[in-house]
Amino acid sequence: MTVPMTGSADLLERELKVLSPATRIGFFPVVVDGGAGAWFTDREGRRFLDFHSMACVVNTGHGHPRVVRAIQEQAGRLVHTNSAYASHEGLVLLAERLADLAPGDAPRRVAFGLSGSDANDGALKLARAATGRPRVIAFRHAYHGNTYGALSLSAVSLAMRRGFGPEVPGVHHVDFPDVYRMPGPADAVADRCLAQLRDLLAASVPVEEVAAVFVEPIQGDAGIVVPPRRFLDGLAGLCRDNGILLVAEEVQTGAGRTGRWFASELFGLEPDILVAGKALGSGLPVSAVIADARLMASWSAPGHVFSTAANPVCAAAALATLDVIDEEGLTANAAAMGERLRAGLAELAARHPAIGDVRGAGLMYGLDLVTDPVTRRRSRRLAAAVSAACFSRGLYVTFLRGSVLRLAPPLVIDAGEIDLALDILDASLADAVQGRVPEAHISAVVGW
Ligand SMILES: Cc1ncc(COP(=O)(O)O)c(C=O)c1O
Repeated sequence: MTVPMTGSADLLERELKVLSPATRIGFFPVVVDGGAGAWFTDREGRRFLDFHSMACVVNTGHGHPRVVRAIQEQAGRLVHTNSAYASHEGLVLLAERLADLAPGDAPRRVAFGLSGSDANDGALKLARAATGRPRVIAFRHAYHGNTYGALSLSAVSLAMRRGFGPEVPGVHHVDFPDVYRMPGPADAVADRCLAQLRDLLAASVPVEEVAAVFVEPIQGDAGIVVPPRRFLDGLAGLCRDNGILLVAEEVQTGAGRTGRWFASELFGLEPDILVAGKALGSGLPVSAVIADARLMASWSAPGHVFSTAANPVCAAAALATLDVIDEEGLTANAAAMGERLRAGLAELAARHPAIGDVRGAGLMYGLDLVTDPVTRRRSRRLAAAVSAACFSRGLYVTFLRGSVLRLAPPLVIDAGEIDLALDILDASLADAVQGRVPEAHISAVVGW
């Protein structure tokens, strides 16, 4: 097997000396140099089909011409104004668009930021300010980001907490329904998780002190975990009955990823606060807290200002991104291509016993690899081997939660590219299971 693992070794060695190790999750030694649509190229000119979308950021594909043009035109006119001090047209247009897109009929207002992390911090501050309550609930294995508030909400990796405590106080974690790994039928799993939350509220966390529940409608970095609708219905009811705000954390699931603008729509959720980021700016930093206008009246400046948030260039990128998703039918394409991907993965699962579970929605799928389909024990080694083998064939795939291949291409992907990825996955699974992936390539993949 020819494995392009050593490209740009000189640059990567220099990088090792100057880049903080806390900032890179070790998958492949690739130095990205260009990109178009669902593909990127490295410095050696090798092409990779991007089934990662740079962690669900380039939903419109690499270098979408309309997004690039919008950025260039805006940069030529005005790069920056600080929206904490002065308005600009793009800021207002973008806030109007997002307020309109968020699920639910209540009027919404928007607070901008630069990352999913700061938006989660914003939602946490807003929830406390609006309710006067100090505590929040989040779910085990969720990833909400790396600023202090967001990392306190997260419960996915010790490495993001070790040495950094104490976290923001008042965050309580409960189980999210993982129907593949928790025993019993899906509805029973949903009920048990809701019961666990009710127990917490009855025994140790006074319900009248709880400001909000933060939930990803589909957990992303936890391993693409799709909850039964019954769970989200129950959660929304529990929030409503107790004056708790429901925060839909859609940093990863938003911007068309699941075949709808927001994954909340898949479950009929109408959150009080919606958190968005990642793909909003097609790679330029834009995040947003979108909330019921009445809630937004409960905090004031400078409660959530950032010098460069939604500046003219970022806002132009985001407006063009929304136009592209809308006018090029990318949510419909995500749904259609997602269905093709799902069918292909189901067919692979029928032939490869190492595939324990196929789950997801739209173009956000997880392939859970196991050592044995009966025990469902995670196989980190297989996940590393399959992704290394895919990389050698020009398919860029990473994995989450140790064993779950994350399949999340740009929403502009076409049927031929989906089929190509399925063929590569098929061959790579066979290589991994039959021990044909070189040991050095498997151990080079650190993952997380
Ligand atoms: C669900 C979710 N929330 C928040 C974040 C953090 O976003 P950012 O890296 O832009 O701070 C991520 C990033 O992976 C995410 O997947």
